[in-house]
Amino acid sequence: MTIRSVIRGVGSYLPANVVTNDELAKRVDTSDEWIRDRTGIRRRHIAADDEATSDLAINAGLQALKRAGISGADVDMFVVATTTPDHTLPATAAKVQAALGRPGVPSFDIQAVCSGFVYGLAVVDNAIRCGQAKTVLLMGAETISCIVDWEDRTTSVLFGDGAGAVVLSAEQGIGTIADRGILSTHLHSDGRQHDLLYVDGGASTTQTTGYIRMEGREVFRHAVVNLADTVRESLAANDITIADVDWLVPHQANKRILDATVKKLGIQPGKVIVTVEDHANTSAASIPLALATGVDDGRIQEGQLVLMEAMGGGFTWGSALVRM
Ligand code: ACO
Repeated sequence: MTIRSVIRGVGSYLPANVVTNDELAKRVDTSDEWIRDRTGIRRRHIAADDEATSDLAINAGLQALKRAGISGADVDMFVVATTTPDHTLPATAAKVQAALGRPGVPSFDIQAVCSGFVYGLAVVDNAIRCGQAKTVLLMGAETISCIVDWEDRTTSVLFGDGAGAVVLSAEQGIGTIADRGILSTHLHSDGRQHDLLYVDGGASTTQTTGYIRMEGREVFRHAVVNLADTVRESLAANDITIADVDWLVPHQANKRILDATVKKLGIQPGKVIVTVEDHANTSAASIPLALATGVDDGRIQEGQLVLMEAMGGGFTWGSALVRM
């Protein structure tokens, strides 16, 4: 018998405030046509001034708990993947834990930028399979709008705020590919590329929060190669082909990155969950938001095989194969 980490509930939260491309075009020299053509993005949600990352995470987490049929008191590990914590310390997960009511159990954040949710799945899966936790609330939550330079048209059009969450719990099983749960995770990073996508602030350097800076074309080029590689790695490790995957749930950075990856992999475009038009790039929140979208609209069903992949600053990248 093996222990598997099974997804029991999925939740999401998007701030009420929606900003369209036309509204952005009033602030910087851009246009709806340029943004849609180069990125596929039409609109994004932006957190209110009094909404912090923990608020987004708590809302998404509560929905995931409800759908799993449990409460915060049943959770024995709280993990938030985020690049935009409420404070430099403590971890945003500590505030989520306090709000959801289970003192005493571990809570911590994961910082792997846009790959944060996939990194989170790997860490949480290891904790569950080692017996360190039985029920985990994993959230990807971001208020990326706070580190966007709204005067910079090359980055400000790309990002949005939001949160997604999953409840994972331990289940004993035979451990075949047909059984529910996380089947594999693969993580990578290459710190030599840290200056192609970064924030120009930080506690130990400028003592400011800073803004996102990016070599867009270089990021694009690396993303397509790394994402296709990690998907192939996942397929090979599980001895399956792309045709066996029911749904690809990719990090939502840019429609052109998604299209290029889909073409490289030869997966049917209809099997890809795409939310970038409405959410833009929500960093660590993008995969759980897309997963929740697919579950909520009935496309993703229990028993189906879902492959998630992400790439972000660092660079970091990785994948997770899950039987829902
Ligand atoms: N509106 C109008 N014009 C713009 C804008 C804008 N918002 N932004 C850039 N331009 C201009 C540039 O100034 C440039 O003008 P020039 O030719 O006069 O110098 C022209 O458009 C072309 O700029 P490029 O940067 O070459 O445009 P490109 O086709 O590469 O698209 C983009 C830029 C969308 C950023 C693309 O490179 C990209 O998507 N890269 C990936 C970045 C990404 O997704 N990062 C997110 C984090 S990483 C991740 O999540 C995987």
